[in-house]
Amino acid sequence: MLNDISIDNVSKPSLGGEGVSILAIESSCDESSAAVCVDGKILSNIIAGQKVHEQYGGVVPELASRAHMQNIIPVVHSALQTANCKMQTIDCIAFTQSPGLIGSLLVGSQFAKSLAQSLNKPLIAVHHMQAHVLANLIDDPRPSFPFLCLTVSGGHTQIVLCESPTQMKVIGETIDDAAGEAFDKSAKLLGLPYPGGPLIDKYAKEGDANRFKFPEPQVAGLNFSFSGLKTSILYFLQNAGKSNLYKEEFMATEEEKKEFIQQNLPDICASIQQRIVTILLNKLKKASAETGITDICLAGGVSANSGLRKAFEEAGVKYHWKIFIPAFEYCTDNAGMIAITGYYKYLAGQFADLSVTASARAEW
Ligand code: KG4
Ligand code: ZN
Repeated sequence: MLNDISIDNVSKPSLGGEGVSILAIESSCDESSAAVCVDGKILSNIIAGQKVHEQYGGVVPELASRAHMQNIIPVVHSALQTANCKMQTIDCIAFTQSPGLIGSLLVGSQFAKSLAQSLNKPLIAVHHMQAHVLANLIDDPRPSFPFLCLTVSGGHTQIVLCESPTQMKVIGETIDDAAGEAFDKSAKLLGLPYPGGPLIDKYAKEGDANRFKFPEPQVAGLNFSFSGLKTSILYFLQNAGKSNLYKEEFMATEEEKKEFIQQNLPDICASIQQRIVTILLNKLKKASAETGITDICLAGGVSANSGLRKAFEEAGVKYHWKIFIPAFEYCTDNAGMIAITGYYKYLAGQFADLSVTASARAEW
């Protein structure tokens, strides 16, 4: 398969930013993706999902690694083809180094390192969460620095203060579950298939968000917590809606619980979604008030949520924020965001050598 990729006429990169072309690889979780970016413009962003996990109700790490092994060459090939690019015109290889599932990261990182070594191209190691933030720099309109970014995905929930493409810090994050996890775990309690976030969104559209009340956690500073919400939903369903506290006397039978869910699904989904969204937005408002920053971005797969987008847009009007949301293909895991981050790291001369290793956890 590798023979399909043209590798003749290897050229050395010219630092400076003009005509810089980057091939980027993302493999941190269950999406195998490759992208080509020239001078900060994304020419291709190929994403191969992994259906194999659906039957297990969550990502199975070992199956993810194996699927990446199968997908990586076809997605790289397709990214070059779509960009109408040959391997010899690529100046640099960027890849997701961390954080993520270690087996998955290893497939992408070893592939990128092998490619860089065999082609004698420089290598750029990218932090996946920083790349989610910089997805906001892919298309116009772009935020001005400094900006804040609320990154909400299946594994992370963070408020990031971004001072430049290579300088950012986390000023708030979840102390337990991520926002996407809160959606998916709530959906699971409702008997919905994985990933349940988009289904909660769908049912919520027909529901009354004020019908059921779930508690807002009291967490210090700009940090988030979603595990209490999950517990209150669990008790709420066990009690067939009579209380969201553990009450022996309200305990419903499995049948009663199922019937309650069936009859009230849209209202339950709308009420859960509203609570997750208010938890997120309240901390974002606090972050903006504390920092004085009003250019505010969303990032990550949960930014597809229609309730979150609406509340974010309303907050933008109310608090005079300039708001930014990347195109959906750059919100979920994708190599386009790795490519744009690689581009800015290239301009800053931040290269990695071949001793760089993938890491499941990452410092900022
Ligand atoms: O960023 P992402 O694609 O993958 C990572 O976790 O890195 O995010 C996936 C998460 C899942 O938890 C999924 O349920 C959630 O984003 N999600 C949604 C919606 N679309 C995706 N959650 C709520 N509403 C949606 N429309
Ligand atoms: Zn991600």
